[in-house]
Amino acid sequence: MHSGGHTRRMLLKGVSAGALLSALSPAAARIRMTGSARIEALIAGMSLAEKAGQLSIYSDPVRAYGAVVNPGVVTQGLTEIKARIARGEMVGLFNGVGVALGRALQKVAVEQSRTGIPLIFAADVIHGCRTIFPIPLGEAASFDLDLAERTARAAALEASALGVHWTFAPMVDVARDERWGRVAEGAGEDPWLGEMFARARVRGFQGTDLRDPTRVLACPKHFAAYGAVQGGMEYNTADISDTTLWQVHLPPFKAAFGAGALSTMASFNDIAGVPSTANHHLLTEILRDEWGFKGVVVSDYTSEQEVVAHGYAADERDAVVKSLTAGCDISMQSGLYYKHLPELVQSGQVPIAVVDRAVRRVLEVKQALGLFENPYRSLDPARQVNDIRRPETVALAREAGRKSVVLLRNEGNLLPLAKTATIALIGPAISDRADLPGPWAVFPDVASHVTIEEGFRAAMGSHGALHVARGCDYEAPIEGGIASAVAAAMACDVVVLVAGESAGMSGEAQARVDIGIPPAQLALAEAIAATGKPLVVVLRHGRALALTGAVRNAPAILASWFLGSETGHALADLVFGDAAPQGRLPVSFPQSSGQEPFYYNHRSTGRPQTSDEKDYKARYREVTNAPLYPFGHGLTYAAVVYGETMAKGPLVRDGRMIVWATVANTGNRPCHEVAQLYLHARVASVTQPVRVLRGIRHLDLAPGQVVTVSFDVTEADLAYVHQDLRSFADPGLFDVWIAPSAQGGTSATFAMTD
Ligand code: GLC
Repeated sequence: MHSGGHTRRMLLKGVSAGALLSALSPAAARIRMTGSARIEALIAGMSLAEKAGQLSIYSDPVRAYGAVVNPGVVTQGLTEIKARIARGEMVGLFNGVGVALGRALQKVAVEQSRTGIPLIFAADVIHGCRTIFPIPLGEAASFDLDLAERTARAAALEASALGVHWTFAPMVDVARDERWGRVAEGAGEDPWLGEMFARARVRGFQGTDLRDPTRVLACPKHFAAYGAVQGGMEYNTADISDTTLWQVHLPPFKAAFGAGALSTMASFNDIAGVPSTANHHLLTEILRDEWGFKGVVVSDYTSEQEVVAHGYAADERDAVVKSLTAGCDISMQSGLYYKHLPELVQSGQVPIAVVDRAVRRVLEVKQALGLFENPYRSLDPARQVNDIRRPETVALAREAGRKSVVLLRNEGNLLPLAKTATIALIGPAISDRADLPGPWAVFPDVASHVTIEEGFRAAMGSHGALHVARGCDYEAPIEGGIASAVAAAMACDVVVLVAGESAGMSGEAQARVDIGIPPAQLALAEAIAATGKPLVVVLRHGRALALTGAVRNAPAILASWFLGSETGHALADLVFGDAAPQGRLPVSFPQSSGQEPFYYNHRSTGRPQTSDEKDYKARYREVTNAPLYPFGHGLTYAAVVYGETMAKGPLVRDGRMIVWATVANTGNRPCHEVAQLYLHARVASVTQPVRVLRGIRHLDLAPGQVVTVSFDVTEADLAYVHQDLRSFADPGLFDVWIAPSAQGGTSATFAMTD
C-alpha cells in the first residue's frame, strides 16, 4: 500500500498528527507529507527537547572551514553535537562545517533522528565566500546596485558549493558615526541608498526560487538600529526617537523583506532601553503584525543571554521567556533555549503554543529551502571544485574592486601614472595578503589574493621600476623603516603611499575614538612628503577617515576601503589608467574625529552654519562644519560639469514632475559619472534633513559629450515620517538638486500641492 494513501486516510479520519508521525518512519513523514501537513504532523509528534533543539544553533566546533570570527562562547564538542543531532535536537550549525562534515551530519539528522528534520547550515558570507569582494561599504561606493546583486549572487554560488544554506547577510544597518567599526559592513549613512543595496543584495543571495541549490537564504541584520549605537561605541545603547527609527533605520529592513528575505537577526543593542532581542514591539508588532514578515528571527551571538546583562531580565530563564515571547525564534550559541525551554513549558511559564509558533517558523523556512526533499543541497562534493573561484567570479572581484574606489583628489592630474615610471610603493599594507578582505571574511582563499605590490608589478611588467618599502607597521614604527622608505622615495619619480587601517582595526568590536591615520603611519607620510616627490596616497580603510597632515595634503588621494581578493589588480588598473575611478563616497569624510556622528542628511538646526561664519552658529570652534569630502563625492580622470537644475512644477500630490540638468564631460577621456538627485522639504511638522538622496543615474560620457539627465519626482520622494509615524508629504515648497555630491550642484525650487 502506498503510504501516501494511508497517510491521507489517517489525516481524513482526523487521526492525531502525533499518531500519524509515529505511524510513519521519519523519512516517510518527511517525504510523503508536504507543506503545512508535514509541519503540523512533525510539531504534533515532537518532544519538548526536539522542539527546543530546533530553536538552537551553534557555531561549528570543528571549523572544517573558516576563520575564527566569534568569541569562543559555550562551545559544544563535535561528539555532543552529533549526539544532539541524532536525537533531532539541533536546528543546524554555522561558520564552519563544509561539504564532507555537512554530509555526515546531515545523514545523521535525516536518517537517525526520529523526526528526520534536516539541518540548516549558516555562515557569515558578508561580501564573498572564497573569492572576496570589496567590503559592503566599499561596494556601496560604487553606487552600483546591479554590481551588488551580481557579487551577492556570486557569493551565494560559492557559499552554496561549500555547504552553506543560509548567510547572515546583508548587514543593512544605517550608520552615521564612523567611530563604529561595523560601518564597514553596511551601505553607509544614507537610508535611501541603504534600501537600494539591501534589496539588491537580498535578490543576489536568494534569487527568485529559494529551492535553487546555488542560492542561499538571506538574513538582513541587525534588527534594529544597531548603527545608532551612541558615540559609535560597539554594543552601546541606541536612544533614538520613533521618527528616526522609522525614517532612518527601518527602511532598509523593509526593503530587504520586500525583496523576499525570510530571516533576520536581532541586534545586540537596546532601543531606548528595550533590548532588540526581547523587544516585542520590534520583533512582533512591527515585524510581523505590521509588516507581515513570515520568516524566522535568530538572535545575534548570545544576544538573548545578554538580555540579563542589559538589566532587562533577572536571570537566564527570564531572558528566555522574554526573548522567545517577544519573537526571537532561534537562540544562537548560548544554548539557553535548549537548556531552559522544556522546564519553562512544563512549569507553565512559557505556553507550548509560543514554542510551537517558533518551531513552525523554523520548519517553514527549512521547507522553503527545499531541505526536506533535498537535504543534501549545498553538500555536493563536485560543486566544491566547479563553483569555487570560477574565472568569471574572480573577474567580478576585480571589476567590483575598480568600481568601489573613490578618487578624492587629483591635483595637477597627477593620476594616472605611467607604467614606465620609477615608482616607490610604500606602507604597511603593500604586500599584506591576509588583510585584503577586511574585517568580515570567514572562508577567504587567502593564498589566491593579489597584493597591492603584486598588482603593480603585474601591470608594470618589464616597464618602469618598482621600489617597495613597508616603512612602518599599521600602528607601530619599524626600526629603520622610515629611513628605508625615504631612500626608496628618493630613488623614484613618484611615490604611492598606502595608508590606513589593518583589518583588525575595522569591523565588530573595533570602535575607534580617533578615526585618523595611526601616528606611526602619519610619521612615515610626513617623512615621505618632505622628500618633495610627487605623492599619491591610497587609503585602506573600513570607515570614513579624519585625514590630517601629509596624507590630507597629498595632491592625489584614492579611497580604496578593503577591496578583497583582487585588490592589487583593481588598484593597478586605476593607478595606471587602464580604468578610471568612478566610486562615490557612501559616507562623509569629516574635518576631524571630534565631529562624529557626522553625516550629510542632518537637520538644519536653528543656527545653521551656511558658510564659514564662526560666531554663534551650529559648529565646533576648531573646524568648519563642511565635510572634508562630502557624501556622494568622487572624481574621475575627466572633468564633469553640471548645468542648472531645472524643475517644471508644481507637483500635484498624486502626479509626477520632471527635474532635469545637463551633465557634460569637458575632459579628453571617457568617464563614468553618477548623477545624484537630492530633495529638501523647506517646512515640515518634523524638521527634515537639509538634503536627502532620492535618485542616482549612471552615465558613460565620451570626451566632450553633454547629456540631459532627468528624474521623475513624485509625492513618495517627498514623504517623511510624521509624529504619528505615518509617512506622507505635506504640501509646500521644496528644493531639488541634480548634483555630483551632497554638497554640489545648483538647486531649483518647486511646490507640491494637494
Ligand atoms: C556576530 C555578529 C553577527 C554575526 C554573528 C554570527 O557577533 O554580530 O553579525 O552574524 O555573530 O557570526
